[in-house]
Amino acid sequence: MAEESLTVRDNRTGDEVEIPIVDGTIHATELKKLGLMSYDPAFLNTASTRSSITYIDGDAGILRYRGYPIEQLAEQASFLEIVWLLFEGELPTQAELDAWQDEVRMHTYVHTNVEQFLDGFRHDAHPMGMLLGATAALSTFYPDAKEIGDEESRRLQKLRLVAKFPTIAAWVFRHSRGLPYVFPRNDLDYIGNFVNMTFEIGGQHEPNPVLQRALEILLILHADHEQNASTNAVRGVGSTQVDPFSAVSAGIAALYGPLHGGANEQVLRMLDEIGDVKNVPAFIEGVKNHERLLMGFGHRVYKNYDPRAKLIKRVADDVFAQTGIDPKLEIALELERIALEDDYFIERKLYPNVDFYSGIIYRAMGYPTDYFTVLFALGRLPGWLAQWEEMLSDSEQKIARPRQVYTGYDERDFVPMAKR
Ligand code: CMC
Repeated sequence: MAEESLTVRDNRTGDEVEIPIVDGTIHATELKKLGLMSYDPAFLNTASTRSSITYIDGDAGILRYRGYPIEQLAEQASFLEIVWLLFEGELPTQAELDAWQDEVRMHTYVHTNVEQFLDGFRHDAHPMGMLLGATAALSTFYPDAKEIGDEESRRLQKLRLVAKFPTIAAWVFRHSRGLPYVFPRNDLDYIGNFVNMTFEIGGQHEPNPVLQRALEILLILHADHEQNASTNAVRGVGSTQVDPFSAVSAGIAALYGPLHGGANEQVLRMLDEIGDVKNVPAFIEGVKNHERLLMGFGHRVYKNYDPRAKLIKRVADDVFAQTGIDPKLEIALELERIALEDDYFIERKLYPNVDFYSGIIYRAMGYPTDYFTVLFALGRLPGWLAQWEEMLSDSEQKIARPRQVYTGYDERDFVPMAKR
């Protein structure tokens, strides 16, 4: 008997099957030999793919992109360098980075019709709804994006998405505020251009390099997170061989949810509701009584402090040194202090996640609460695209189509309306 294997015995029949263990996993299809399926709602213990992009050790609180620790990347890399790293698997040389930045600059403009359909949204439309709709609509401008079997075409669509996403995200912001759209400026870098398109008034915007670098670090921290809910949506929808604009819009939809990227918005709403440090103990009691969740806490994979949350706290110091302290920070710190000492949170290994502090920083930068998740999407886009590419080039992948355990009626006869 091979050592690296698992023997499964069906006690109903005595039948046995020996299943190879590869990379700490068994292939669920091996169970077919016993006439069985595996059942794993919400994928609690199921790997859906092999991936060489992002490594997480949730118990140790480790996150690496292509092998590089997130701490080093956040400290030393630019966002476009990270995008290259995620796409290509290696850090770019200076020449590669220069050429990549130029290519991105060439594609920042969107078709002028985009202005018109953004105008069609109501003034109070949620920014994530607008981003989702606008990204899906982009697929209609690029019919060649359907050529997903063509490597050059895939590269072009990824480039288009990376270049145009900040423009659309910024215009969504302008639409919410009733301000005219600002066009991309090719003399600015990726982050500077985005910030300028959001905040420029009357042709004027004085960039703050500390805040811009803080935003860049936040985007780097969000750039990929292996098989999270939105990436799973991009891969799942992409597995039907639809174009990447449509697949990414599925990712945006998944990210919008309050348990995923939408949590950064919910954290701020929660802090507003708590209102004062003195109300924190009562709020924590409500959480422990399962009346509500402590938003920005807990994670499917991290059972230790989210390494991104640690880095974000440092970014917060830099930002608040520029903008002054937000009183909400005091409430957040007190929530964290009490939660980390409380058995409810200790037993369940609940720690602050990336969303706990990001919203307070975005607010200090001048972004409104309902816009926070758009910033998350801006950061996560390269991860979605790298994972989409990896999925398409993986010969083990097919259309994602789970099985089910049917629990409904057996066959029964249709009842005519008069007899119901
Ligand atoms: N507040 C209070 N209790 C919690 C929380 C929380 N934030 N998160 C989990 N728990 C409890 C949960 O009630 C359960 O308790 P019990 O065993 O008594 O039923 C236990 O901890 C295990 O939780 P779970 O729901 O089985 O964990 P999960 O892996 O299914 O959910 C999660 C992960 C992130 C959806 C969840 O922790 C949560 O809802 N957190 C709040 C929303 C949030 O901050 N989301 C952002 C995630 S990080 C950024 C991103 O990737 O989007």
